[in-house]
Amino acid sequence: MLRCAVKRFAYFATFLTIVANIYIYTYPSFHPEQCSWSCSNKNALLQKDLTLSDKVKRYFSDVREQWGGNHAFADNDKDIHILAFGDPQIKGIWPKTPYVSRLDTYGNDYYLGHIYDMMQQRLNPQVVTVMGDLFSSQWIGDSEFHNRTKRYISRIFKRDPTSIEKVKQQNLDEQGQYKANWPEWGDRFNEILNSVKENETENSELSFGFGYENIHSWNPDLEDFLIINITGNHDVGYSGDATYQHMTRFHDLFGKDNYWIEYETNTTHPWRIVVLNDLLLEGPALQPEFVEATWIFLNQLNERKFNGSTVLLTHVPFYKREGLCVDGPDTRFYPDTHAPESYKAGLLRSQNHLSESVSNRVLNMIFENGKPGIILTGHDHEGCETVYNKRSSSAWEATRNIESDVFVKEITVKSMMGEFNGNTGLITGHFNTDSMTWEWTFSLCPFAIQHVWWFAKVSLLITIFTWSSLLFV
Ligand SMILES: *[C@@H]1O[C@H](CO)[C@@H](O)[C@H](O)[C@H]1NC(C)=O
Ligand SMILES: *[C@@H]1O[C@H](CO)[C@@H](O)[C@H](O)[C@H]1NC(C)=O
Repeated sequence: MLRCAVKRFAYFATFLTIVANIYIYTYPSFHPEQCSWSCSNKNALLQKDLTLSDKVKRYFSDVREQWGGNHAFADNDKDIHILAFGDPQIKGIWPKTPYVSRLDTYGNDYYLGHIYDMMQQRLNPQVVTVMGDLFSSQWIGDSEFHNRTKRYISRIFKRDPTSIEKVKQQNLDEQGQYKANWPEWGDRFNEILNSVKENETENSELSFGFGYENIHSWNPDLEDFLIINITGNHDVGYSGDATYQHMTRFHDLFGKDNYWIEYETNTTHPWRIVVLNDLLLEGPALQPEFVEATWIFLNQLNERKFNGSTVLLTHVPFYKREGLCVDGPDTRFYPDTHAPESYKAGLLRSQNHLSESVSNRVLNMIFENGKPGIILTGHDHEGCETVYNKRSSSAWEATRNIESDVFVKEITVKSMMGEFNGNTGLITGHFNTDSMTWEWTFSLCPFAIQHVWWFAKVSLLITIFTWSSLLFV
């Protein structure tokens, strides 16, 4: 009797496990257009009213393509392929964290890792970028910052954390934990800053080393693509919060916050990636010298008079009027009496967008050549697509649709967090040889709320357990 019931349950659990796991391991195939690089022949298939049987056919043909070793996904190998993940915001575990939340945080790392694995294997991108807010808080200690970086590297991106372990060994506190050596980093930073300022016209001996060329991997022995980590307000703080400590540990563990990489410069189709820490563009800032350094970066970038297309990667979106995206303009400053941190009174506390004047200045400096480009941002977890139209020699206006000959698209990449369905942004750059310009297309590939992933994992455990228990009843 019992045996019979257990057996029935085992079959039922097996069925659910199979369905759930097929779903999580083939989820991109349910949205084949959104989850594939854009290419002209694929777009031809874009039909509005597919019947259910068309959808089923499309699903199976996509699964076959992906798992059959048929690399139809990267068929135009001159195209540029970028994966962008919005605001993962991984949380921490504290002594008082309840066990359920601990489990949730632990599982969440693997949920995000599952999305990365699926998209990476399916699409084989050249660049993977995380749009800032890698962690959930800027108010954490160095040791916790290091521990989260380790989770980020090993659980989400499945890579070897030895390089950051090495950084830890070189920067230990009395308890044997990582401690950012900010006095040393700060001295070096100021030495370079002063030298660059003094020699503005000539080439300074010291430099921030903002520029790169043709980098396809930071670590060619390990991987054939580039990982770019962008600073978010939760990683280094807004300019009213950002301290030497914040900047030191970001640089130690994630690399530079401002740089450019130019590609194919001596061809007909040059393009570049610009990584910009736009949290440190305006103030009042706690350390105004950081803001100064960001403007030096933008000036140096502008002086290159680059004649190609630009992919700008940054965290806080550009200024736009209320109603275009979920977040409207909102800038806050610390109140005059901000106890206990009275030294922060009046400083920039938060911003949804850059200010209008800073947005115009930055757009002018980066997109001066009028060539089409694309801006990817994070911050607003809901995602958004707008167009910046150049209205005059110095003013850009955000609208929903293209309204001017010179324009740049801004994509706010919807968050990869479970509540937002675990999205991945796909950016395809295609060089149109008729118009001799780069064309950029974006699509958003959704997964599902984290519970679906949990269900697939837990039902597998229950199924194994139920079948094993049949040996004993
Ligand atoms: C970080 O991890 C180390 C090693 O597991 C541990 O000893 C330390 O307490 C952690 N730091 C924090 C702030 O939890
Ligand atoms: C960004 O982080 C990844 C993984 O955490 C790391 O492999 C990569 O080298 C980092 N990028 C830079 C520019 O340091």
